[in-house]
Amino acid sequence: MFEEEVSVWVPSRVSGLPDESRSVFAEHLDKLGLESGVAQELNGPITSAEKLQREESHVLLLSCKDGVPNGFIKYGEKNLFFYSEKGVLKEVKCICVLDFYVSTQLQRSGIGSLLFNNMLKRLDMPPHALAYDRPSPKLVSFLAKHHQLVNPDLQPNRYAIFPDVFLDGVLNDKGKR
Ligand code: ACO
Repeated sequence: MFEEEVSVWVPSRVSGLPDESRSVFAEHLDKLGLESGVAQELNGPITSAEKLQREESHVLLLSCKDGVPNGFIKYGEKNLFFYSEKGVLKEVKCICVLDFYVSTQLQRSGIGSLLFNNMLKRLDMPPHALAYDRPSPKLVSFLAKHHQLVNPDLQPNRYAIFPDVFLDGVLNDKGKR
């Protein structure tokens, strides 16, 4: 189950596992999800095997080394409201990075990039076209270092976007008002 360096988990794959495998999967993912919540100072984990099975539009990429999961990135589509530069509120359907974590002792060794780049390839999208849920200082640093994305616009809904491009044609008011 954890042989691949990066494996893809959608809700139906998790719920389709035999009971025994599903509980092994849950044991690993729940541990990482819990650690992620602590690392981000959230009120509780936002990723677990049980939650993932209910999140129909979400995809989880799991990184593993020597058969042991050591990180994940979860993303999916959401309808969100964003303010443009001129304060116009608009609803946008977009892909969001929802949770992203690498085991503490393995951070800064390229695993985050492996997961993130794999996600971008699967989506066939550039990083500035995504929205980021409650970005942590480490994620902000990661995006600046690897993708030259700086000055994220943290919106009232707690998602950060890079408006110059993200809003282009969606929320960009230039010429429209
Ligand atoms: N302090 C500051 N920046 C860091 C840290 C840290 N402790 N760890 C990673 N970074 C950033 C830096 O830019 C670093 O480059 P540097 O070492 O030259 O300074 C870069 O990430 C390293 O890149 P990778 O090795 O590819 O990334 P890593 O495997 O560390 O994974 C991740 C990045 C997932 C953000 C990881 O640091 C982590 O799990 N952090 C804790 C949880 C977290 O904050 N997750 C993001 C939540 S927001 C969201 O999910 C939308």
